Amino acid sequence: MATTRGEPVPMREIVGDAIRAPSAHNVQPARWAFRRADARVALLRDPARSLPVADPTSRDEAASLGAALEGFAIAASTRGLAVHGLVRNEEAARAFGANVVGGFDVVATFHLADGVSPDPLAPCVDRRRAWRGQFGPADEAEGAIARFADAANAHDAMILGRELAPRIATLIDRATWRFERRADYHAELWEWLRLDPRDPRYRRDGLTAEALLLSAPARAAGRVLMRPTVFRVLQATGLGRHLVSERAATESAACFICHCSPADRDPFDVGRGMYRLWLAATAAGLVLAPMSAIVDDADTRVIVEQALGLDASRRLTQVFRAGTIRGEPPRSPRLPVEEMFVEL
Ligand SMILES: Cc1cc2nc3c(=O)[nH]c(=O)nc-3n(C[C@H](O)[C@H](O)[C@H](O)COP(=O)(O)O)c2cc1C
Repeated sequence: MATTRGEPVPMREIVGDAIRAPSAHNVQPARWAFRRADARVALLRDPARSLPVADPTSRDEAASLGAALEGFAIAASTRGLAVHGLVRNEEAARAFGANVVGGFDVVATFHLADGVSPDPLAPCVDRRRAWRGQFGPADEAEGAIARFADAANAHDAMILGRELAPRIATLIDRATWRFERRADYHAELWEWLRLDPRDPRYRRDGLTAEALLLSAPARAAGRVLMRPTVFRVLQATGLGRHLVSERAATESAACFICHCSPADRDPFDVGRGMYRLWLAATAAGLVLAPMSAIVDDADTRVIVEQALGLDASRRLTQVFRAGTIRGEPPRSPRLPVEEMFVEL
């Protein structure tokens, strides 16, 4: 493996850092290939790791792939390497000479060029994690919010204050239930829930009991109640609504960070920007949880867009609840780095 200067490319190390990028339901759709002959890297998509029900337009998948690319670029920068000449989709397939490599779709391809300095957000890659619990006292987060506010514009972010927490808690729960009351939606979520640490997949992917902050009794209850055959009864009676409620965590937020992307930005680039925003908030000392149901449910998205006063040039592409906590959020699993490569 060689860069433009003929030195070996530390692909394994770069990908080992890049896998910390977030992905919807932690499905981890990204794979990587490196072609020695022309030192070209390809970002690939695993078609088996998609969410056809929750993500019918593949928007979240594209955002997750964009975040993976951004993660790769940040990791490469710490080795003095820059992503150079990035092309995507058909152009990428043309440049790589194939649409599909090893059963994976070619999404993007690029070279690595020497001579770049480390991305200032690199130190936050390992610290950034989703936090699904309640936050500490809001006044303790004031300094972190002020630090992030300085960087907000550069990350297409707008901040909503905690006085809106009760309203946003109602909106997220209503939007979540619009999806979760559907049998097909819940069945797909169940496929990615990892509620039993003895499950061999527990250390590979999906949403683990630890990442969801479930106590031992809650895990045991969840294994029964979230099972689609049982959850169906809770859907019919409406009781399931309480089980998937995010009200307590949302009401405790110190602020809400809204990612407001330019309206013409495609989901892949939205994902790149969203990951950088999350890292910048981490750098400021905040912990975040995305609330995608707010943007996935069109009615709810419009309500928040109006509260933000967005004009037609911007679109609400994510809402995070944010605050500070004592300690750190749990680290969610990733696939082994060896499985991330396609050998050419
Ligand atoms: C496009 C996208 C949408 C996401 N939506 C949600 C969400 O609605 N709720 C949530 O709790 N986490 C959401 N996440 C966070 C992922 O579940 C999380 O990144 C993944 O489980 C890996 O965990 P980590 O971020 O702690 O490394 C989303 C992530 C991405 C990239």
